[in-house]
Amino acid sequence: MVVNLSLQSKVEIKSNQAVRKIVLAGNWKMHKTQVESLEFVQKFKSEIENTEEGREIVLCAPFTSLSVMSKNLHGSRIQLGAQNIHWEDKGAYTGEISGDMLTEIGISYVVVGHSERRQYFGETDQTVNLRLKSAQKHGITPILCVGETKEQRDTGATEKIIINQLKEDLIDIDQSNLVIAYEPIWAIGTGDTCESIEANRVIGVIRQQLKNKNVSIQYGGSVKPNNIDEIMTQSEIDGVLVGGASLEPASFARIANYKIS
Ligand code: PGA
Repeated sequence: MVVNLSLQSKVEIKSNQAVRKIVLAGNWKMHKTQVESLEFVQKFKSEIENTEEGREIVLCAPFTSLSVMSKNLHGSRIQLGAQNIHWEDKGAYTGEISGDMLTEIGISYVVVGHSERRQYFGETDQTVNLRLKSAQKHGITPILCVGETKEQRDTGATEKIIINQLKEDLIDIDQSNLVIAYEPIWAIGTGDTCESIEANRVIGVIRQQLKNKNVSIQYGGSVKPNNIDEIMTQSEIDGVLVGGASLEPASFARIANYKIS
């Protein structure tokens, strides 16, 4: 019998041993009002009643929905994530949100350095690094996104780009409270998923760069109910960051309830 060592390494073997957590996160981006968010939660809760224990389920909702969702999710296994965090605790930073504002309402995760922030809102590796530090200072787990463009992939620069992002983004970052998402930019929102074997290979490269080999590393980019099972069989992949397919309760629940044969 072939034992799948990958799976073994992803589950708790001894209580005192470090483990790679499985983190299944939905990134709603700029979708859903408060009413729509609560409607989602209402349906979603019943769909994940039997989800295997040990799978962390996270909803990264717009700031406007987080507070009301937090009250509604009290006592549930669903964790809440924000989509950005500023590095200062307060001040004249119009449009930004601080760590204190997030912890006050029970936020556990925050997406940092998403390619949409890097591409459209001038996020740099330096500001990503500051936001990661701020999240950790407040006890929030950052989900750091890295990934290459189509052009960078086509010119063979994928590894170089990602290694460089990690080098810059992770300066003085505590790797014991960190999730990384490998998100090839050409696969985001395009329906053009990166082959799971290739995603696994790049995630292996990412892991090699880390001091802490037990950091959970997700794949993100057109994850859907019909490809989640295959993605999660890969040895290096510890979860997923899901955009479009996290907007429907049944679809994200199928992802949370992935099956490995
Ligand atoms: P997608 O988005 O699942 O819609 O491709 C993923 C992401 O941007 O995190």
